[in-house]
Amino acid sequence: MTDTSILFQSATLGSLELKNRLAVAPMTRVSATDDGRATQQMADYYAKFAAGGFGLIIVEASYIDEQYSQGYHFQPGLANNAQRDAWKLVVDAVHAAGAKICMQLVHAGALNQGRNANYPEGAIAPSAVAPKGEMLTFYRGEGTYPTPREMTTDELIAIKDAFVAASVRALEAGFDAVEIHGANGYLLDQFWTAHTNQRTDEYGGSARNRIRLDEEIVKAAVAATQGKLPIGLRLSQSKVNDFEYQWVGGEQDAADIFPVLDEAGVGFLHITEHVATDEVFGSGHSLAGLAKKHAKAPVIVNGGLGTPETAASVIAAGDADVVAQGKAALANPDWPAKVQAGEPLADFDFGMFSPLADLASQAAWEAAQ
Ligand SMILES: Cc1cc2nc3c(=O)[nH]c(=O)nc-3n(C[C@H](O)[C@H](O)[C@H](O)COP(=O)(O)O)c2cc1C
Repeated sequence: MTDTSILFQSATLGSLELKNRLAVAPMTRVSATDDGRATQQMADYYAKFAAGGFGLIIVEASYIDEQYSQGYHFQPGLANNAQRDAWKLVVDAVHAAGAKICMQLVHAGALNQGRNANYPEGAIAPSAVAPKGEMLTFYRGEGTYPTPREMTTDELIAIKDAFVAASVRALEAGFDAVEIHGANGYLLDQFWTAHTNQRTDEYGGSARNRIRLDEEIVKAAVAATQGKLPIGLRLSQSKVNDFEYQWVGGEQDAADIFPVLDEAGVGFLHITEHVATDEVFGSGHSLAGLAKKHAKAPVIVNGGLGTPETAASVIAAGDADVVAQGKAALANPDWPAKVQAGEPLADFDFGMFSPLADLASQAAWEAAQ
C-alpha cells in the first residue's frame, strides 16, 4: 500500500500555515442570493469539508465589481460590503470546523452567461473575439457566446482596482488567503491566451505582456493587504470553453512568467490540468512540476488526483506542496478523514449536477441515493 502520510504533513503558503496538504478546489455552485450574497446553506456546505479534515478550502469564484465581472446567475460576489458581510457566515463556519479558507476572485470577461439586473448587460474582454465552445447548461446557459466588446484602458485600470478592493474585503471578512482566478478561460486567462488577446498595448503580444495584468493585480493586492494574507494565482491550459488549449510558448512560457509572478509577490500558484500528472511540452515535467522548477512560490496542484496514491505521489515527487480535490471532495467531503482511517472512497456521480450544478440539485440527488 502506498504511504499517504505525506498528505497529512503540515504545509505553508507564504505566511499561512496549513495543518495538512489537502485543499478543496474552487467550485462554482450558483447557490448565492440573486444579489450575490453567500447563504447559510453555503456555510453548511463548506463547513462539511472542514469537518471532513481538509486543511484548506478554496471557495467558489466570486465576482469583483458591479459592472461586467459576474458571469453566472446566483454566483456569489465580493463586490460590496453586503456581500463581504455575508461571506463572514461561511468563514466563521469553516474556521469553527478547523480549516483555513481562501477566497477565489474572478472576472468572467467574455464568458458571461447572465447576471443580476442591477449590473450592465453584455461582456467585455481584452479583444473583441467570440469565445470558442458553448455556454454551460448546468449554469443556465444555452448556445454560443456572443462577441464581447474590447475593454478600454480605463476599464482595465478599474478592473485592477476592483480585484484589489475585493482582496481587501476578503481580508476584512476573515479569509486566510486570496486566489486570483487567472485560469480556465475567464477574463485574466483571456489576457494570457494568445488568440483571445490581440491588444497592441503593453498588455498584449509577448508572454511578458500577456501576464502583465496578473502581475499588476497580484502586486497591488499584496500591497493593499499589507502581507496579512497570501495572494495566490490560479493558472491552467484548458478552459471551460476550450478543453484542448495549450500554452503557445511551451516551457518557455513557464520560464517567462513564473519568475515575474514571484517578483510581484505571489503567495502561491495553483496549477490545474485535466490530469495534473501528465507531462507537458515534452519537458519531462507536469505543468505543476514546471511551476516548481521556474517559481519559488509554493504550488497547489489540481486535476484528476482523487485517489490517495496519485495525490501522495505528486507531493512525494516534489511537483507540488498542496493537492486540491474537486469532484473527489464532492463525493467525499470527508476525503482526508476516510483516507487516514483507510476507509473506501465513494465515486463521483455527475447526477449531482443535474439539472443544475447548484446545492439544491445536489441535495435532491443525495436524498434519492
Ligand atoms: C461544478 C464545478 C464548478 C467549478 N467551479 C470552479 C470555480 O469556481 N473556479 C475554479 O477555478 N475552478 C472551478 N472548477 C474546476 C475545479 O476547481 C477543478 O479544477 C476541476 O474539477 C478538476 O479537478 P478534479 O479532477 O479534482 O475534479 C469547477 C469544477 C466543477 C466540477
